Amino acid sequence: MTSVRIACGPIELRLPTPGDAAALFDIAREPAVSRYLEWPVHRTVDDSHTYIADAARLWARRVAFLPCIYRVADGQLLGAVGISHLDRGNRRGEVGTWLGKAYQGRGYNLPAKAAIFRVGFDLLGLHRLELAVGVDNARSLRSIRTLPAVAHEGRAALRLWRDGTGVDAEVFAITTRDWDPCAYPAVELGGGLP
Ligand SMILES: CC(C)(COP(=O)(O)OP(=O)(O)OC[C@H]1O[C@@H](n2cnc3c(N)ncnc32)[C@H](O)[C@@H]1OP(=O)(O)O)[C@@H](O)C(=O)NCCC(=O)NCCS
Repeated sequence: MTSVRIACGPIELRLPTPGDAAALFDIAREPAVSRYLEWPVHRTVDDSHTYIADAARLWARRVAFLPCIYRVADGQLLGAVGISHLDRGNRRGEVGTWLGKAYQGRGYNLPAKAAIFRVGFDLLGLHRLELAVGVDNARSLRSIRTLPAVAHEGRAALRLWRDGTGVDAEVFAITTRDWDPCAYPAVELGGGLP
């Protein structure tokens, strides 16, 4: 997978390497970014190194594919979008996205979603991608409701666990039954699975 070029408009996705730790730390140190996510704010660059090593390990075990989002124009690391809880048996996974504060509301989310949906459906052979959003995450809920073919399936009690507390979530999904690549910006997938 890491040999595949995955690009969409202004962004591309690839697994981060240790050389990305400083840039990752710059955006993952912001409490405003991680407060809705499963991982705690990065306190030192060592936390960012650990995140990068975990992403490599999880992909090696085919448990999750967690690439970072890079701006094609200058290589700036913008955030991450990935598929976790890969369940090959049931052809499903869970999509999560985060962008550094400076890169939110700038049009990077839609191409990142288009790219990860193509990865899930076309490279990983999944048929269902779930997106669970905390009921307190108004910005993400607003954003997700604008995504073509992403259906709201209902509210799940205590679906997420953050800072030692259970949080209810709205659960959304996109499946190959409704997925229409033409409704999303075009994605370039070069190469194939290793
Ligand atoms: C959730 C998240 C990934 C969504 O990304 P985003 O960039 O904020 O969301 P959107 O793509 O919906 O951004 C739309 C906004 O960008 C603006 N925008 C600016 N330039 C744009 C462009 N070229 N194209 C599209 N939208 C653009 C839109 O006008 C819109 O503004 P509004 O929010 O004032 O209406 C991001 O907010 C984030 O990382 N949040 C913190 C982590 C998190 O909560 N993750 C989700 C966990 S479930």
